[in-house]
Amino acid sequence: MSIDESIANASDHAPDFEEVVRQRMSRRGALKAMMVVGGGTAGALATAGRASAAPYAAGELTYDALALNTNDQVSLSTGFKHDVVISWGDPVVPGAPAFDINNQTPAAQAQQFGFNNDYVDYRPLPYGSTTSTSGLLWVNHEYTSAQMMFPSALAQTIPVGTFSTAAFTTNTEKLTEIEAHGASIVEVSLNVGTGVWSYNPASTYNRRITGSTPMAISGPVAGNVHLRTAADPTGTTVKGMLNNCGGGYTPWGSILTAEENFDQYFSWRDGVPAAGTPEQIYARANASVFGIPVGASSRGWELADTRFDMRVEWNEPFRFGWIVEVNPYDATSTPKKRTALGRFKHEAAAGTTATNGKYVVYMGDDQAGQFIYKFVSSANVDTYNQAANANLLDNGTLYVATFNSDGTGTWSPLTFGTGTLVAPTYEDQADVLIRTRTAAASLGGTPMDRPEDVEVSPSTGYIYAAMTGTSRTVANANAANPRASSAATDPNSARGGHIIEIRETGNNHAGTTFSWEIFMLCGTPGVGGTLDATTVPAAANSSGRTYFAGFDETQVSPISRPDNVAFDKAGNLFITTDGMPTAAGSGGLGFNDTLYCVPTAGTERGHLKAFCSAPPGAEMASAYVAPDDKTIFASIQHPGEDQKMSVPQSLWNGIPGGGGTCSRSAVIAVRRLNGSDIAVGTIDEPPVVPEFPIPALAAGTAAVIGGMLAFRYRRAQPTEA
Ligand code: FEO
Ligand code: CA
Ligand code: CA
Ligand code: CA
Repeated sequence: MSIDESIANASDHAPDFEEVVRQRMSRRGALKAMMVVGGGTAGALATAGRASAAPYAAGELTYDALALNTNDQVSLSTGFKHDVVISWGDPVVPGAPAFDINNQTPAAQAQQFGFNNDYVDYRPLPYGSTTSTSGLLWVNHEYTSAQMMFPSALAQTIPVGTFSTAAFTTNTEKLTEIEAHGASIVEVSLNVGTGVWSYNPASTYNRRITGSTPMAISGPVAGNVHLRTAADPTGTTVKGMLNNCGGGYTPWGSILTAEENFDQYFSWRDGVPAAGTPEQIYARANASVFGIPVGASSRGWELADTRFDMRVEWNEPFRFGWIVEVNPYDATSTPKKRTALGRFKHEAAAGTTATNGKYVVYMGDDQAGQFIYKFVSSANVDTYNQAANANLLDNGTLYVATFNSDGTGTWSPLTFGTGTLVAPTYEDQADVLIRTRTAAASLGGTPMDRPEDVEVSPSTGYIYAAMTGTSRTVANANAANPRASSAATDPNSARGGHIIEIRETGNNHAGTTFSWEIFMLCGTPGVGGTLDATTVPAAANSSGRTYFAGFDETQVSPISRPDNVAFDKAGNLFITTDGMPTAAGSGGLGFNDTLYCVPTAGTERGHLKAFCSAPPGAEMASAYVAPDDKTIFASIQHPGEDQKMSVPQSLWNGIPGGGGTCSRSAVIAVRRLNGSDIAVGTIDEPPVVPEFPIPALAAGTAAVIGGMLAFRYRRAQPTEA
């Protein structure tokens, strides 16, 4: 049922006193407390506070918000538990060597769980089922930090927080870093008795995809002159995928994984050549769009593999920055870079089927001032038919979003031969897609405050897009990115981030117009704001500070830097953060990154509650809700990232035998202790309060029973059986 329906149903049923006492007492664990209830009317109960009169409001998330903290652990709200499912270095491919931090090799890492896990997804087994006790765990490995990987780098004096590690690593270590990128697939199962998730290291589904795994380039850009290299003169195959951040999935069982900050792996090493061929000039012009360094790269991979040196292979960067589709159910399948979905710093890919049968994928380009996109397939989806959908994502239309100040919006097609996208400015459709950013800007796409993940509500069809926040200039504020300030000294700066709600006209995901509003303005609550009233929609300007879809902002968990999002079936939105540990002026709140949930409909819309937080230095990089809503997988990425291994910032999930000096990234599975739904499960079962002989009391009377004042009030209205 929808949230609205569940609220309507719940309000029919006023909880009676026994229920209230049982839930209240068990929730607080106050078993031994002397219970005294004063007064004799329902009104007196109400004055005891909302929590006493009813544990949770109708439609409210049924847990107590976790206090933000800086503890070196995974922290959870009361009633939840977590297990570490898999960590960096764990064997993935059957027969993989055990992890040995002192003997890392490219060959070993190519069989073991990679570094810095990010997007996590769960595909049920067998294919086509919706089981939530056995399936395939997909995990992206976004990037490497050599100073946290290699004892050799540990022995060096690497400045805290630096990523310029090229001088501290050997070529073998650089090649090991390449193998630590990509993704892992492992078969996982739930022990229903213990509630513990584990992976099967012997499963033939298990697979590593790395920065050197052969994959195909498909769609309109395949074979284009700007993608041809010495190793691939046809421009149709590429070694590996890099910086895979967020992702998504399709109804036909595939994973869409997003190549994000690919620029950091390439360089012109010793400077850009002064002159060159037309292809080199083209490469030079486009390298700057993404920030590819003119000098050496931070990791120095170009020293270990010349394909990363643009003086040698100026076209190699054009083979990265795409959405990659992988069939996780076939460990021999070839990953495909789907060029029809554009080339940019892809954060993620959120798919849905439009009412007309087309498949639609929403995407953000995660850099300050970049855009939100969607792809609409040319052909219709044949939902579960893998063969029929094999190339569905190779043909379609890519659109960029423009957010108007009156709350309307338009999708403009990136179609060669139309509008600004004509010769000689553009060569063809392939050129438009390679230069997606430039094309989208020319169409008037609205620059956003770093578009991260996007997700479509399964209950309403509305789209939620997280802007993680930026340090952009005031001049770049607009109605959809309303913070006037991004100053480091302003606690209400655009660095705090926000979430936009998009409603396609007529709920038609294949259409070209929409309406939108600010769903959440994150940041420091209770601090005087600098919102620009001339650009902020009235709905978002309630306080000039933070905003939670109209919900009382003093009643929610504080949040900043929203990053990845996920839904449960009921339409509760889960939000992970990236950057909360930094100080308020830098967009953070000074607490560990955290996982939240928030209802998106009904009277509880906007009532955000934290329930899980990561160790220090970690990003809560991704979360995925199992089909039964009873498990949420979460990605704990780079715990202790600001540390040198010799000066630990976090000891959480350290390496066995590694002296406890290095915290490892890991995927965790979070469940309720009683196994009920994550967002709206039951509180505790069985009830742990002593039974009172309340039935002996007539309704509306009170008596001293067992030394306690017991009381039974009259039902406000009859309840259904
Ligand atoms: Fe890899 Fe946009 O976070
Ligand atoms: Ca991310
Ligand atoms: Ca997501
Ligand atoms: Ca991020």
